[in-house]
Amino acid sequence: MSQHPIRKIAISTGGGDAPGLNAVIRAVTVSALKRGWECWGIRDGYNGLLEPESFPDGGLIHLTRQRVSGIMHQGGTMLGTTNRGNPMNFPVQQPDGSWVEKDRCGELVEKFDAAGFDALITVGGDGSLSIGYHLASLGLRVVGVPKTIDNDLDRTFMTFGFDTAVSFATECLDRLHTTATSHRRIMVVEVMGRYAGWIALHAGIAGNAHVILIPEIPYDIEKVAEAVRDRERAGYLYVIVVVAEGAKPVGGDVSVLGKAVGQAEKLGGIGEKIAAALQERTGRESRTVVLGHLLRGGSPTSFDRLVALRFGAAAVRALEEGMTSVMVSLAPPTVRYEPLKAAISRMKIVTLDCDTMETARDLGIRFGD
Ligand code: F6P
Repeated sequence: MSQHPIRKIAISTGGGDAPGLNAVIRAVTVSALKRGWECWGIRDGYNGLLEPESFPDGGLIHLTRQRVSGIMHQGGTMLGTTNRGNPMNFPVQQPDGSWVEKDRCGELVEKFDAAGFDALITVGGDGSLSIGYHLASLGLRVVGVPKTIDNDLDRTFMTFGFDTAVSFATECLDRLHTTATSHRRIMVVEVMGRYAGWIALHAGIAGNAHVILIPEIPYDIEKVAEAVRDRERAGYLYVIVVVAEGAKPVGGDVSVLGKAVGQAEKLGGIGEKIAAALQERTGRESRTVVLGHLLRGGSPTSFDRLVALRFGAAAVRALEEGMTSVMVSLAPPTVRYEPLKAAISRMKIVTLDCDTMETARDLGIRFGD
């Protein structure tokens, strides 16, 4: 693979969207143009290169200064994204209608070269960064930018998107307190986060939840019901329970809605199960609210905007300095670079002895253990 000076780079956004993606795209584009490089966006992960015929306007977007103006505060990604375009396990339909997974990475590298790209900036979570690591091992110059509302990526203090998701969930909890207390109900609020409890923990504390259930602490439903009764005994007739979508009972499994070929398993449904179990055990009327994809929408908070802009600019600096197979990482008060391999080798989950957990316990929040 050529290691000549960079003239033309590509950027791709993959996996679930997160507020701040457009800010990264803007920072990458403006920083690249400043260095005299051309910048192109690949649509829908890598589908714009692999399946250009499925895009009426072409699979690549020429990112000019004008093209990226006015996008920074917008949620989503102007490039589009997909959960069904992993080139390592690309879903391909067979003549009989069934689906199989195919490795299309070799083909992707050829198309990348044919398009004249010298380097790739890949913005995504563990899935996209794993693809980036693999493409780097095949010879592409790759810099990763960590993104996920779940905040479950290792080797970075935080990902952008998380603060926006937590802020919105907190606002929702504030609103639910008034209706829960008016009706003296149990409100169970299910939030995203996959197999990590960061969103539930942070929003639950900030939003004054009484019970928080996270994947890192398998819950005993009897203990959760006991927390409801303890509140009743203390004179409080409503309860707010925040449950992470990946929470599971002691000795039980996560609640899975399904899994399609080429995609990660879809979590969900735990909120309803908890609400039904609590209503049955306590006799108190229960309702469920699933915040779901609302947590991924909206304008990024100023924190997420700034992190996203810093990540995008730092990714371009990394390429300029000749780095490859690295991920930009937030290490307050600065950004630095971590090997992609290290970043994808494990998931960052809630550490049970952290001060945030201690704070929650000191405040009387229960975890079902
Ligand atoms: O990883 C981000 C995330 O929002 C998870 O919290 C959630 O489980 C998943 O994506 C849902 O993805 P989708 O509905 O887009 O398949």
